[in-house]
Amino acid sequence: AIERTFSIIKPDATDRNLTGAINAVIEQAGLRIVAQKRIRMSRAEAETFYAVHKARPFFGELVEMMTSAPVVVQVLEGENAVAKYREIMGATNPDSAAPGTIRKQFAKSIGENSVHGSDSVENAAIEIAQFFSGNEIVG
Ligand code: CMP
Repeated sequence: AIERTFSIIKPDATDRNLTGAINAVIEQAGLRIVAQKRIRMSRAEAETFYAVHKARPFFGELVEMMTSAPVVVQVLEGENAVAKYREIMGATNPDSAAPGTIRKQFAKSIGENSVHGSDSVENAAIEIAQFFSGNEIVG
């Protein structure tokens, strides 16, 4: 089915001017970037976005990292977009990520792992709604 997923190009990647390189991998995989904006995430936005990880030991570090520099938030659309984007992102830890994936090519570490992608269609809808209004998404 045609799905939408939510993507973030994280500070470690925007810092290194990798937005275009990552977008090229996304588009070459057949996903369409139907919404995109560069923002500075606030602490409140990062805490809300990562609320599911609040109890994890890395939560504080994660919020610091996500608010440390600009991010690019995106909506990606295509056939099986949620699973397809997770496949091309690669494993959370770049050391375990498959060759050719975004994280294998670009990520610095398990924390500074260059991109986020939704883990389900349900969470994609919630995450998209946190950052985009309907009229900002143009399919
Ligand atoms: P993401 O897919 O955005 O979801 C949660 C994020 O937490 C993850 O990518 C990483 O950026 C970060 N993360 C996960 N595990 C660790 C860890 N062990 N140490 C630091 N950060 C982590």
